[in-house]
Amino acid sequence: MSSALPTTPLAPNILAGLERVASIFDAQLASDFPAVEELCRHVERYRGKMLRPTLVIVSGLSFTRDGAELRAEHDIVAATIEMIHMATLVHDDILDDATVRRRGETVNFLRGNETAVMLGDYLISNAFHLCSRAGDPSLNLRLGEVTNTLCEGELVQLSRRHDLTLDEATYFEIVRRKTAVLVGAACELGARLAGAPDADVRAMLRFGERLGTAFQIQDDLLDLLGDEATVGKSIGRDLEKGKLTLPMILHIASTRGNARIAALDAIDAKDGAALRRALEASGSIEAARARAVSIVEEAKRGLPRTTRTGAQELLLELADRVVARDH
Ligand code: FPP
Ligand code: MG
Repeated sequence: MSSALPTTPLAPNILAGLERVASIFDAQLASDFPAVEELCRHVERYRGKMLRPTLVIVSGLSFTRDGAELRAEHDIVAATIEMIHMATLVHDDILDDATVRRRGETVNFLRGNETAVMLGDYLISNAFHLCSRAGDPSLNLRLGEVTNTLCEGELVQLSRRHDLTLDEATYFEIVRRKTAVLVGAACELGARLAGAPDADVRAMLRFGERLGTAFQIQDDLLDLLGDEATVGKSIGRDLEKGKLTLPMILHIASTRGNARIAALDAIDAKDGAALRRALEASGSIEAARARAVSIVEEAKRGLPRTTRTGAQELLLELADRVVARDH
């Protein structure tokens, strides 16, 4: 996220914060064993936009007075959340049989599923070890709740693979659990650690969850429409693994006859080009995109008033970027 940071008087604070977070992350994963060290350095390359740590920092800065610094706990929570995110990506790439992540090879592709399972476990274990160093059990409790929810989201998704009756409400519940809760926690905890009033902390949680939901819709659109070189990770995985995403669900619910059959056949045959043609023709891709944009607008409208100069503008811009991105 650092190079793509919007111009703001807060940019130096955020960049400094992200550097601290990266150092905490790297130090936590240092190992005496070269084999483990090498894997951890590989995972550090997955750090891309650093959206979640940025949200912890900006949400924190939003509720501190001009000139005041963030707490050390902000950095620990930001690094913990990024490490949880990395663990989920390493495990997700096994489930998706993905070979490319952040323009490099996935751990499962390079080293096989056994190593990737263990590395994901090592990352999640380290994340909670790191969080404990903040000395505030309520943080572990909250983030433990989040990882429980996240796993439930993945388990429900797995149980509904190849299920053409998956409806919109269930899709949104899966997305809330597997993606949105962690982004929500980043905003919530950033604000809470800065001493924001309870109502504002709750509003920041809702802001983050909406951003996370829009992020996942955009992610699903990139999986369907993007090319691997631009997106930087394996695409077409949803169709390959029988995961119905929003444009497909909207199409199935809104079309009849040949248009509907064309999409169902394409899903069955895992024919990406035919599926894209059918979904474009029915306007379902545009409808899914519009839904993501409208969730971002809702998120922006619900933002609490913040005190720090430039913080609100930054949150608004970060929200817009979630749906404008091509990778
Ligand atoms: C991205 O899905 C995946 C997630 C947001 C969550 C994955 C979570 C797990 C696999 C559970 C593991 C949990 C722990 C605690 C280690 P995607 O495939 O749509 O995204 P992608 O395009 O980035 O691959
Ligand atoms: Mg995946």
